[in-house]
Amino acid sequence: MAAGSEKRQVVRYAFYKLDPAWRRLTAERQATAKIEFGETLERYHGRLLLRPYGLVGIRGDTDFLLWQVSEDLDALVELQTALNRTDLGGYLAIPYSYLAMTRRSIYEFPAPATPDQAHEQRLVIQPSAAKYLFVYPFIKTRAWYALPKQERQRMMDEHVRIGRKYPTIRLNTTYSYGLDDQEFIVAFEGDNPGEFLDLVMELRESEASSYTLRDTPTFTCVQMSLWDMLDTLGGAGAAEAVARRPTRTDGFTPVASVSELPPGSAKRVYAANEAVALFNVNGTIYAIANRCTHARASLSEGTVDAARCAVTCPWHEGVFSLETGRVLGGPPVHPVAAYQVKLDGDTILIAHEAREPAVS
Ligand code: FES
Repeated sequence: MAAGSEKRQVVRYAFYKLDPAWRRLTAERQATAKIEFGETLERYHGRLLLRPYGLVGIRGDTDFLLWQVSEDLDALVELQTALNRTDLGGYLAIPYSYLAMTRRSIYEFPAPATPDQAHEQRLVIQPSAAKYLFVYPFIKTRAWYALPKQERQRMMDEHVRIGRKYPTIRLNTTYSYGLDDQEFIVAFEGDNPGEFLDLVMELRESEASSYTLRDTPTFTCVQMSLWDMLDTLGGAGAAEAVARRPTRTDGFTPVASVSELPPGSAKRVYAANEAVALFNVNGTIYAIANRCTHARASLSEGTVDAARCAVTCPWHEGVFSLETGRVLGGPPVHPVAAYQVKLDGDTILIAHEAREPAVS
């Protein structure tokens, strides 16, 4: 298919490594730096799809991955420029960075056995809730390209047959020809590293495997919220700086100003060591716990339905009431905490203790 007729996305897998000198900074500066870095990433939500993954405890040469998906390269450049300007950015190296694009495969694939396998031909990346992402760059030998197309198709058929024996593993293949050093970036999503290990072992015995030139380094990445990922770096917890603010005797904490939260907007703030999502729905401010109870997505990045006074989680469409925190739909089972809100002039205050949300 001609390049111009496909709507494609650009994809970057950027792996960051923290300079240990950062861990010797003051706790105040560490906490402030985490908040600045996290808020910088959140500002790009909507322009890019951004998924953080932790690698602390898994690899020694990288600490976290930011999986970035965009409609254009400019957004990737702007995001990295903004991150470089942050305090934490001054302590981050990028030991690995892979650039790719989505496109259709030149090979024919049989109809997927399950809806989840339809991702094999996807032009739009839609990360799943899977806990792990297994990523590696991939290069075929030139001998592969010299084979007749039917020969390659026959070997790809075997490859696909093996892959479909592991239906819980989702494959995202993106293409790097001419854009970056590798030919593909292969990213598998799954909840069970053992299953992925078995799949890769079985693929090694396939005929196509003898035409692999390079498929390392391999990264096992753990999906987590942005703030949890930042806390794997060590140092002060992301909420610590805010928690040190003096508290008021009435039990309410100032968290933002109304002017920062115009009608229709949302914002993540901290109170009593918890991330809280604030929403301004037609002039009324609501506050609920920011972390979705399903798979920990940030609810401040969700979509608000003003008529229902509800927010839809950005990851798997769980719906929560902004008034009570109750689950109104989607996969979450447990409600989120809902906080009391009051205004003092332009200042938004929320109660320290979350109101007990109604049980759904
Ligand atoms: S993280 Fe899955 S619905 Fe929110």
